[in-house]
Amino acid sequence: MFNIVVCKDHEELNEKAFQIMKEVVTANTQPVLGLATGSSPVGLYKKMIEDHQKNGTSYKNCITFNLDEYVGLPKSHEQSYYTFMHTNLFDHIDVPEENIHIPDGNAADEEQACRDYEDALKKHTVDIQVLGIGSDGHIAFNEPGTPFTSETHLMALTEQTRQDNARFFDGDINQVPTGSITQGLASIMRAKKIILIATGANKAKSIQLTASKIDPSCPASLLQRHKNSTIYVDTAAASLLGK
Ligand code: F6R
Repeated sequence: MFNIVVCKDHEELNEKAFQIMKEVVTANTQPVLGLATGSSPVGLYKKMIEDHQKNGTSYKNCITFNLDEYVGLPKSHEQSYYTFMHTNLFDHIDVPEENIHIPDGNAADEEQACRDYEDALKKHTVDIQVLGIGSDGHIAFNEPGTPFTSETHLMALTEQTRQDNARFFDGDINQVPTGSITQGLASIMRAKKIILIATGANKAKSIQLTASKIDPSCPASLLQRHKNSTIYVDTAAASLLGK
């Protein structure tokens, strides 16, 4: 079973997540970082940038693997995860561009792109994996029902996820891509350490399900089987725990 850490506010949550990240970055000669997009990790990334700028913590030996990417959104689109990661983290730290891995959402052969991504990932062991969670319990873009044995694959986004992410696309669900390339649940579970960040009342239900029965209907519940995973929640996201 994972640890659940309830934080009084976002500052405390981001600071705790940042301290774990910094320890991994400074303790390893070639840290492998598994990174997520969306709003949940942005506060953590801000702290990493601040620390890099103030204290010189270096990412030059880091290798990064992102969880997922929309299919069919040009890399240059401001909501592509490629652009998101550069804007919110990579452009402000010293990780070499060649060490960055993000699934190719514009590959001519999408199935091949999935296999290539999984092969690249398997050459490494992720030291720390950052996760958010969908309001439907997804981690990465593994929507409810995804097999626990899944590796990098194509995934159609649920109506719920597209609705949730419409806020990044002028509130218009029609602009939200319908597909993604995502690491699978088995890919994620290979990480040595996992931290999941969830804030806000709209995550309360999925956090409640994550902590109850292990079942593919809530993909995040699989984390209960991970040896070193911690869920950082604010009081709103924790509000249905134990109910
Ligand atoms: C993003 C990802 C997704 C998000 C989830 C929550 O790379 O893998 O699982 O973490 O959809 O998104 P936010 O943080 O925007 O609520």
